[in-house]
Amino acid sequence: MIDFKEIIAEKIANQTELNKEEIKQYIELPPNTDLGDYAFPCFKLAKALKKSPQMIAEELKEKLTLDENITKIEIVGGYLNFFINKVILSKEVLEEIENKEENYGSNNSGENKTVLVEYSSPNIAKPFHIGHLRNTVIGASLYKIYKFLGYNTVGINHLGDYGTQFGKMIEGYKRWEKEYDIENNPIDELTNIYVRINNLCKEDESVLELCRDNFRKLEEGDEYCLEVWNKLKDLSLKEFQKTYDLLGVKFDSLKGEAFYSDKIDEVVDKLEEKGILQDSEGAKIVDLEDKGLGVCIIKKSNGSTIYATRDLAAILYRVRTYNFDKCLYVVAYEQNLHFKQIFEVAKYLDIPEKCLNGLEHVSYGMVRLVTGKMSTREGTVIKVNELLEEAIERAKKIIEEKNPEMENKDEEAKKIGLGAVIFNNVSNTIIKDQVFDWNTVLNFNGETGPYIQYIYVRTKSVLEKVDEIPNLKDINYELLQDKESQKVIFNLYNFENILMQVVQKNEPSLLARYLITLSQNYSNFYNENKIIDENKEVQNARIALTKAVNIVLKQGASLLGIEMPNKM
Ligand code: ARG
Repeated sequence: MIDFKEIIAEKIANQTELNKEEIKQYIELPPNTDLGDYAFPCFKLAKALKKSPQMIAEELKEKLTLDENITKIEIVGGYLNFFINKVILSKEVLEEIENKEENYGSNNSGENKTVLVEYSSPNIAKPFHIGHLRNTVIGASLYKIYKFLGYNTVGINHLGDYGTQFGKMIEGYKRWEKEYDIENNPIDELTNIYVRINNLCKEDESVLELCRDNFRKLEEGDEYCLEVWNKLKDLSLKEFQKTYDLLGVKFDSLKGEAFYSDKIDEVVDKLEEKGILQDSEGAKIVDLEDKGLGVCIIKKSNGSTIYATRDLAAILYRVRTYNFDKCLYVVAYEQNLHFKQIFEVAKYLDIPEKCLNGLEHVSYGMVRLVTGKMSTREGTVIKVNELLEEAIERAKKIIEEKNPEMENKDEEAKKIGLGAVIFNNVSNTIIKDQVFDWNTVLNFNGETGPYIQYIYVRTKSVLEKVDEIPNLKDINYELLQDKESQKVIFNLYNFENILMQVVQKNEPSLLARYLITLSQNYSNFYNENKIIDENKEVQNARIALTKAVNIVLKQGASLLGIEMPNKM
């Protein structure tokens, strides 16, 4: 598709010392399209030329030529503002969307690059809480977007299936297995056992000793310990799978922490060899105090492995298995220090520079609940499946009120309820804490998932009203030159650009915001323009635009993990 930014950058590059790529970085979108479609800030040249931005703008404007693509250049402040040919733009955008359909916006910029996206990673025998829900949604979306841009993408669920807590779980299971209904309600009952054994450990040091022993035995392959551990794992995975099925989330690898437990000797040996391993009260540590990162424990005094070491072993394994360009860890910001530590220690593992630079913690904020009648248990833990079910239930109620005659109510309610929750999890900058409030997430008119779905359904019903979708060859693009149409077209034009920014910043919220803007702009277009019109030529142009919006909204939402309903 035509790249106006490129055309403008080329023009400027021909007249200045700056190269095209650099100029492209500087080119901005003016705050208001009345001012122009693209702006070049001339102060970027001021230092080198020793002139004021205003003067540079005037001189540059004289030298730049207009053509069929760039129809006008204006100076505002120290900016050169460019106006592009909107008829060409409109034609290009609509044709490209028609040709590529749901592949519009995809490209092969990621060709020959491998990205690992590690996400979800809940802990076995513990509830799947809303923090894990958030990172599951964020990770799944990043995974899809990288794929869409041609990356070889691997989704990894780094299950928390190891650690001393399993020594405790095994002890509790051994003692009280018969008292609990583990088969039917595994996560709750195992949590109860865990709470009980923890309390006992606090009272009785000798029990704690037994628990530690259990974990050591597990690491050594003790039959009973392994059997219990496998059982806990199977039961938990079955539960987690329900959530993944609801969300439509899949992984390419389910290698959890336990997988790395027999691979840590190499890490320890390497660090020893590099002379950075120190003894500290019987434990082995790497001292990172001079970098302000505290101390990273590598091996405990009783010889047991530890979370950080398993992560280091995982890095080595992933380098060898995938030779990745990026390895993203979608994990809450509470673990910022942990990832800083392991990325620092990884520098001593002799891994290629490319992989080392590709390690990245995609840190996200907490989900906070507006208190009220959430499905809370014991005050704090929200069970994700219950939350999702409740969302679907509530969506169904809304449908019953608004559109009781609707077909396939259950199916549509599922898409709307889940869409609402998913959107809420990605709609803000991911590092920010997110508030969850039923009243806002399910609001059809707010900045929500259901709003995007609602606008999509509107495009769909418009398209269903006409007998025939017009052929683009017959479209008169002059009829799409009003402000509302142009805003929509410019949004559509920017779709690919937004996706590129998402992977550059690992920030799927950019796509979520984009879809809100596109929906709002389409809504304005719809309110200002009669689509079904006596004038067929006008109608055809507006239908063609509606079709394009329909395709991009659906594909954009699907990249966030949101399905579109057929009716609302
Ligand atoms: N299981 C951990 C938790 O729930 C998250 C694991 C994050 N990934 C990692 N490679 N350390 O807190």
